[in-house]
Amino acid sequence: MNNAPIGFLDSGIGGVTVLKPTINLLPCEDYFFFGDSANNPYGDKSDEEIIARCDEIVNMLVNDKKCKAVVLACNTASAKAAEFLRRKYTLPIVAIEPAYKMVHDLNPDGFTLVMATRGTIESEKFHRLYYKYNNNKTVLLPCAGLADLIEQNRQAELRDYLENLLGEYKGRAENVVLGCTHYPLARDIIKDILGEIKFFDGAPGVAKRIKAVLAENSLTGSSDESGVVEFEDSSPDENTRQKKKERFFELLEKY
Ligand code: DGL
Repeated sequence: MNNAPIGFLDSGIGGVTVLKPTINLLPCEDYFFFGDSANNPYGDKSDEEIIARCDEIVNMLVNDKKCKAVVLACNTASAKAAEFLRRKYTLPIVAIEPAYKMVHDLNPDGFTLVMATRGTIESEKFHRLYYKYNNNKTVLLPCAGLADLIEQNRQAELRDYLENLLGEYKGRAENVVLGCTHYPLARDIIKDILGEIKFFDGAPGVAKRIKAVLAENSLTGSSDESGVVEFEDSSPDENTRQKKKERFFELLEKY
């Protein structure tokens, strides 16, 4: 039994799409969420930059916030830094990845779009997953700048971006892998453009994995009251930090 918080990290507010199903499954745990929006987007940064930044954040989560487990609620951070972090730190680290295996398990014959950051799509970790489960009917879509439009809530530009990117797949795509934790926040627009499709999102699987990992390591909290969620953002100015916080809790409420 351990009542320390579970630490979440993302390059911004996108990781809320992983936190929410985790809270639904583990409502009595406490959570500390860190959005690194001073350094976003992560999608175009080098492996070395992502590893160094995630190392600093995990160090803070472990040593200052006393987290009992860490969740990489960012596919790009997972793809580039999970291995390094797991070698360096002893606490459990759960990492999201694009739910491409779920396509293989649930609708392998369907024409599939994998949407993710360039960093995730070009990573070795994703290549291993892709070649293992390749259905030969998959288009990989590196979505440069998309997470940023969602992060900044630029709705009109977001719709234009998605129409340009996805318009040609209308009526053809059956499966869409949401391979960046920001993208589920644009699910309605994607559906509007593509019509009837199945979404594949790794977040519910991550929530189940967290529950299992806590149990395996005797780290499950003992409280039977609702846990608390703390949020911190790395933006340098107070005004932006406050706005991020408000948006984060608004999304957490309604997602
Ligand atoms: N939310 C992130 C992901 O899942 C990163 C987005 C970005 O900062 O580029 O990949």
